[in-house]
Amino acid sequence: MTDTPQQTSHPVPPDERTWWKESVVYQIYPRSFADSDGDGIGDIPGIIERLDHVADLGVDVIWLNPVYESPQRDNGYDISDYRSIHHEYGTMADWEELLAQVHERDMRLVMDLVVNHTSVDHEWFQRSRRGDPEYEDYYIWREAEGEGPPNNWESFFGGSAWSYDEVREAYYLHLYDESQPDLNWRNPAVRQDIFDTMAWWLEKDIDGFRMDVINLLSKAPGLPDGDPDSEWVGAEHFVDGPRILDYLAAMDEQVLSNYDILTVGEMPRLTVETAREYAGEDGPLDMAFHFQHTKLDYDGDERWSVGDWDLPELKEITRRWHDGLADDGWNALYWENHDQPRVVSRYGDPEEYHRESATLLGTYILTRSGTPYVYQGQELGMTNAQWEDRESLADVDARRTARELLDSEQHDSFEDIADIVGYRSRDNARTPMQWDDSEHAGFTEGDPWLQVNSNYEQINVAAAREGDSVREYYRSLIDLRTEYDAFVYGTYSDLHPDHERLAAYTQTLEHPDGRVSERMLSVLNFSDTTASVDLSTTVENADLLLSNYDRDTIGPTSDHEPYEARIYRLE
Ligand code: GLC
Repeated sequence: MTDTPQQTSHPVPPDERTWWKESVVYQIYPRSFADSDGDGIGDIPGIIERLDHVADLGVDVIWLNPVYESPQRDNGYDISDYRSIHHEYGTMADWEELLAQVHERDMRLVMDLVVNHTSVDHEWFQRSRRGDPEYEDYYIWREAEGEGPPNNWESFFGGSAWSYDEVREAYYLHLYDESQPDLNWRNPAVRQDIFDTMAWWLEKDIDGFRMDVINLLSKAPGLPDGDPDSEWVGAEHFVDGPRILDYLAAMDEQVLSNYDILTVGEMPRLTVETAREYAGEDGPLDMAFHFQHTKLDYDGDERWSVGDWDLPELKEITRRWHDGLADDGWNALYWENHDQPRVVSRYGDPEEYHRESATLLGTYILTRSGTPYVYQGQELGMTNAQWEDRESLADVDARRTARELLDSEQHDSFEDIADIVGYRSRDNARTPMQWDDSEHAGFTEGDPWLQVNSNYEQINVAAAREGDSVREYYRSLIDLRTEYDAFVYGTYSDLHPDHERLAAYTQTLEHPDGRVSERMLSVLNFSDTTASVDLSTTVENADLLLSNYDRDTIGPTSDHEPYEARIYRLE
């Protein structure tokens, strides 16, 4: 058979390739990554010192959680100055050095954009509460009328979304902590100030933004009461609000479209349909984080609960998002971030099958099309920590919840609620990065701001550097995405949607004429028992197998001990 030009053409033509689609992103939580000066708090020079660990993993992009000036009530998501660096983290010169070092290693740097709210300490809020005419309309204020707050909206962290300000003698809206007042996006001056700030950072040559709760910017006119039975009262009036697409279109037109950057929106309650509007071909953003797979282990809708999760449901979510965005949009793939408990402790078994779970879950996130995000420590299989009492928690959200649960009189002691608060607290993601087996896991020479996980002597970077570690496995998976386009641009197909214990899927890349160019097969047993699987024909047609089965036991099998996941190159 002679090759026609079409047959030799590459299935992904150069003009369809996009760097942010081909990237793996690594997320750094600065407070907990590496402390260079012994104050117990991670900082930017600490990140620079450890940058080779990140580069060696083979990732392409770093997303840095907020490093802006902040009173740190919500660890930097409460910004008091958008254009300076928080003093505990270093200086602007340190940050510039970080950017240069990241670029020198051929990586890119994505910054966090937190513009739904500021800190109460921001000058805008300080002027607004004093009624300065230029700023009085920068936030969402309502006069006190009658008893209590202006409507029944709730803060995501619990309690009313309104607080009364004694200076202005009015209520202000805060969808998060009372120290995080919501900006009034209806005010064109607010929008302009934010757009200018974004351009200011982009001119410093950063490579994109991760946009915090970005679909909450537009609040329904009149701020009507929400459904009181809703899990987040008021949400129907501020999630994907009436003007959100206009705001983001303006942001795109005035700022984003002038740069070659990665943009990813964090979007509570996102559905596939709305994801296409935000991040489809014509949408303002490149991709968005949804939360559906992070709620599998809730008991019903309740966030502060722990329920059983099931694999068919996870696969259903995966399918829905892959199919739904296949022709329009792009998936952001993740298990962990600074708000989520550690995935090995949620969907794996950190005690009996630590390595097996970590490699299994790593495979699931790194072998599908979309842009994978790996959170610091995930590449080691870091686990949830042990919380002894309320004081050991630092997270504003977890502390408040612990207090409320204990005050509710249904619970007598922290022990009573530890299974829920300890499991769900965002502190689990924020324990210091485990570098080695020295004191405080090599994170700091001082006293760490948050306790180090007690398993640091076994789980740490130094131990994972050699041989057959979880980290090395992550590195191999990341390499494969560069080697095989099927992982990035291929089509996902679930071979066993209803199987209770097994995820088996292919990623297939085809030539324009329909011939298969590459096919990758993943066969992952999520359980600790045998799950028989007959996939012999698919195995024959695949280039690579990623599995926690032994290569030879694929086919009906009767005994199966959980293995770590491995990569098999098939002939
Ligand atoms: C996002 C952040 C979270 C923060 C919240 C308020 O969900 O990821 O850490 O607390 O927004 O900014």
